[in-house]
Amino acid sequence: MHIWKRSRQYAAAMASPYPAGDREKLTTKLPASLRHALKVRAAQLTVDLQDAVTEGIIAWRAQSEVLPAVDTSGAESFGTWLPEGLYDDFKADCVDRGVSYIQGLAQAVQLWLTQHPDNGTEEDETRRLISGNQKGGVGKTAVAAGVGEAFAEAFEDRAGKKVLLIDFDPQGHLSDQLGIPMFDIGQQSLVTHMLTPERATTPLHELVQVVPGERFGGRLHLLPASMDAFLLDGGLAVYRGPRVAALEVALRDLEQHYDVIVIDCPPSLGLAMDCALYYARTRESEKDGNSGILIPVEAEDSSAKAYGMLQQQITQLSQDWKMTLHQFGLVINKYDSRKGLVATTSKEKWESLGTPPVLTVIKDLRFQREAVRFKTPLLAYDPECEQSHNMREIVRKIG
Ligand SMILES: Nc1ncnc2c1ncn2[C@@H]1O[C@H](COP(=O)(O)OP(=O)(O)OP(=O)(O)O)[C@@H](O)[C@H]1O
Ligand SMILES: [Mg+2]
Repeated sequence: MHIWKRSRQYAAAMASPYPAGDREKLTTKLPASLRHALKVRAAQLTVDLQDAVTEGIIAWRAQSEVLPAVDTSGAESFGTWLPEGLYDDFKADCVDRGVSYIQGLAQAVQLWLTQHPDNGTEEDETRRLISGNQKGGVGKTAVAAGVGEAFAEAFEDRAGKKVLLIDFDPQGHLSDQLGIPMFDIGQQSLVTHMLTPERATTPLHELVQVVPGERFGGRLHLLPASMDAFLLDGGLAVYRGPRVAALEVALRDLEQHYDVIVIDCPPSLGLAMDCALYYARTRESEKDGNSGILIPVEAEDSSAKAYGMLQQQITQLSQDWKMTLHQFGLVINKYDSRKGLVATTSKEKWESLGTPPVLTVIKDLRFQREAVRFKTPLLAYDPECEQSHNMREIVRKIG
């Protein structure tokens, strides 16, 4: 009985007693119908599967009532990762309650599903996210790619849901690191559609490439950069019509094919960047927080200065075009507390801003660099590395 008491204490503490770091593998069985329902609901609520199971088990352990038995006939093997220590405690509880581990897990998953009902929110408006900051090398591309990958992963079992990454930087880093060639000078591309739509004979959806990787199941696509994208700012300067809407107009037809669009912006505050900021504004038909900007920053002084300039540009554009740009938050990237005082105090300053909030702190770790080197999406290169979990955390936080 002591374990039951301890479970209730955990619930009373309203927090997980398990450290957030290390995890250990749970290998058992789960009926196919429950497994499917769990995957679908977790994706819908953009909750990590392992976190959903963890929450379910903690809630199950905190129950003082005997829960109804779940039909586990035909259960199939099921594995996930739990915080260290939880699996042993759970097994001890199963023994205490006189149920098999399979029955215990089935009850825990059923409990999580009951406590996390279908929210019924299907977004009609395509979510438009941009990863932007004119400071170079802060992680715009890493964040754009990682967030797109995390969305595509979460859309497993959500029939037809798709994510589009757009490489909007003439440097073509995003295309390059996903191993997809850029368009050559003179080839049709997003630039043709923006600057000379009368010459754009190939629709943009025919220029899109599927990002390979079983994990993404064909749900993650990329519109590659083009070599002549460096002409964009010059071309926009002589653009006839409302140039700030050039990107929006070019993407209009493509949007209907996607549920989420993530744009990797160039390190500049030029006219192309204005177009991206305008594109991510909250449209009249759209609920607040559906679209907006993610701002990767570093924990250092030069990053703070660049951030101030970006905010000025957002304010100016918002006034000029009477628009609202939702700022999802900051992503503190390449954080290394061993760099000392500047790093730690800068991080505190970012966190003390409050608005926009800090969505996650990504450490300076090898996985991101290695994924780039091997031209493999980070979440496929090492799905369980800390940086992959950071990307999923961003997606969870932005709902
Ligand atoms: N958390 C991290 N840990 C280690 N390396 C990282 C991390 N994030 C990004 N990098 C590496 O730092 C470099 C710059 O990152 P990235 O290209 O994402 O920045 P960026 O802001 O898009 O740069 P640019 O301004 O040139 O477009 C890349 O080599 C990338 O692999
Ligand atoms: Mg970049």
